[in-house]
Formats: sequence, structure tokens, C-alpha cells
Amino acid sequence: MSKSLVVEGASYLVTGGAGFIGSNLTESLLAGGAKVRVLDDFSSGKHENLEPFRDRFELIEGTITDPETCRVATAGIDYVLHQAAVPSVAKSLEDPFSSHEAGATGTLNVLLAARDNGCRRVVVAGSSSAYGDTPVLPKHESMTPSPLSPYAVSKLAGEQYSRIFPELFGLGTVILRYFNVFGPRQDPNSLYSAVIPLFIRHALDEEPPFINGDGEQTRDFTYIDNVVQANLKACTADGPGVLGGVFNVGCGERISINRLWTEITRIVGVDLPARHREPRPGDVRDSLADITGISQRLGYDPAVGLEEGLEKTLAWFRAARPTGDGAALV
Ligand SMILES: NC(=O)c1ccc[n+]([C@@H]2O[C@H](COP(=O)([O-])OP(=O)(O)OC[C@H]3O[C@@H](n4cnc5c(N)ncnc54)[C@H](O)[C@@H]3O)[C@@H](O)[C@H]2O)c1
Repeated sequence: MSKSLVVEGASYLVTGGAGFIGSNLTESLLAGGAKVRVLDDFSSGKHENLEPFRDRFELIEGTITDPETCRVATAGIDYVLHQAAVPSVAKSLEDPFSSHEAGATGTLNVLLAARDNGCRRVVVAGSSSAYGDTPVLPKHESMTPSPLSPYAVSKLAGEQYSRIFPELFGLGTVILRYFNVFGPRQDPNSLYSAVIPLFIRHALDEEPPFINGDGEQTRDFTYIDNVVQANLKACTADGPGVLGGVFNVGCGERISINRLWTEITRIVGVDLPARHREPRPGDVRDSLADITGISQRLGYDPAVGLEEGLEKTLAWFRAARPTGDGAALV
């Protein structure tokens, strides 16, 4: 898939390339023969995420909050895949300013540097958190945003800056609003871990997880390969509404947290009822992407569904898991 989507002879910058999504993008770009540079401050990213292909790309260890670092990082680059952010609602409640600096100021720095260095396009990671808790489903890009956390506000600010660059500054941008992404290299051991790596760790350890609330809340889970595809297609798509456009990246399917746990225990081969506890304040009840826009304008096709994605993710976790002493994953 990825090979044909990589532009021959082009150079790519992945900001946040040491993170979960960024390292998968980097790996796919390298597999497609691209020249790749990574910019990361390793605040949540890890060197081990890049280890398997470390000698095949250029690494700049630095922060997008520094304009000069962004200028150096975007020099000679054709396409920027901008993933760097402090990607957690909970962290943003503890430290709103760091979220703001990375999501808003950092994104503006990346955009200005890409403009000044004549980059062809910047694809910006947005977030479905922009929609807030509006009951309307599915979420369509034309809905009025309603961010509920400093994280969501900072991501939306980054989006809004990105939207005005084609018209005002002649820099092509595309914004991708990711729904719940999962796959290999997603951290299962952080305080802020996403639900799928957390559930996989619990299932492998045969330890029931806690589900917040009744578990009937739903999410649109999206396997990482679909997100890679969306990014690569966003680099080259053209036509009305593409530049400065905002596009949902999901599968267009709602899965409840209860069903997710059932699926994971089935694939792992354990029979383990989850425990329930109080709902987490501020959690969105339901989330579902309308993917008509991205399918029509970018030719996006979420080829890997939940079950296949879970199987691939589990295979990776099993391979990465140290054997014998029950030590922590990855
Ligand atoms: N994972 C999801 O489900 C999801 C959903 C919606 C949006 N997103 C967005 O996708 C992007 C990637 O998220 P992820 O899940 O891979 O998280 P991650 O934490 O694994 O990756 C984020 C990366 O950005 C780096 N970073 C943070 N601040 C930086 C800075 N100031 N300068 C340079 N690098 C910095 C981190 O070290 C890390 O490597 C983020 O922009 C996030 O907001 C992710």
C-alpha cells in the first residue's frame, strides 16, 4: 500500500516521529523508499520506537516550540507530516500551558518554517476531541467545534492556523482529525495509556481491567495503517476543498468499550469479565466519524477493520513482550 503512495524522490519531515503514530509513519515512508527526517523532543516518544530503522533516517532531537529548530528541520523538505503534540486530555488538565505551547504555538512555528522553506505541503494531525460531547452522530466536519479540554482547544487552534495558510501564505495544508487510533508501538504502560493497549496488556496478564461507567460508551477505533494511508494521500490529493480542508480519519463504525473487551479477550483466548467503576468526568459518551469527505476528496479507504487491526496489534505486543519474568511490556 504505502510504497505506491510515497512520492518518488521526495523528502518528508515527521514531527513527533518517535511517538506511536509518527514512528509508524516513518517506518512506512522508509519502506516506500522516501528520504525521511524526524523531529522529536522525546517528551512522550521513545528511541526504541525508531530502533529497528534508526540508521535509515535523519534525527533532530529538539522542540517545535523553538522557531529556529523548526526552520532547520523543514529545510530541504517537500512534505511535512506534523504529529508532535502533548497528546493527552488528562495531561492537559494538569499542565494546560505545555499543551498549548505544542498544539498551538508549535504548530504555528512548523507552518511558518514550512512556508519560509518552500515546502510543498503540511499535513497536520488534528483530533476528534474538537467535536466535544455533542450528541449528534456521526461527527461531520461541518459541525461547530466544541472543545472541552486544554488539549482539544490547542489542537483546534493548530487546525485553525493550518486552515488559513493556503489562502494567506500559499502553503498547502491538509488537516486530519484522527479518531481513536490503535496499533503497534502504542504505549500500554503510561498513566495516560489509550484503551486498546491497556486492554491488551490486561488480557495478556489475565488481570481484569476497570471499565469506566457502564461500558456502553462507543468509539470509532482506527487501525494505524488507515492513518498512514490518510497522511500519504493527503500529501498529493488535489481538487476543490482539499487545501486547508479538515477531514475525519476513522472507520465509520461505533464499537462499545464492553464489546472491545469481549473482542480482545476472545482473540487473546481468555475468559475474564471486566470490572466497572464510576464514569470518568469529562469523557465523551459516543464518537463516530463521518468519513464521506475524506473518502471522496482524498480517496481514503479504511482497509483494515477492527478485528484485523486487533489481531495485528496483538501479534506485535506478543512479539515485543519479554518472556519469562512477567516484566513490563515493550
Ligand atoms: N493516538 C490517537 O488516538 C490520536 C487521536 C487524535 C489525535 N492524535 C494526534 O496524533 C498525534 C500523534 O499522537 P500519538 O498518539 O502518536 O502520541 P505520542 O505521544 O506517541 O506521539 C507524540 C510525539 O510528539 C512528540 N512531541 C511532543 N511535544 C513535542 C515538541 N514540543 N517538540 C517535538 N516533539 C514533541 C513526543 O515526544 C512524541 O514522540 C498527536 O498530534 C495527537 O494529538 C492522536
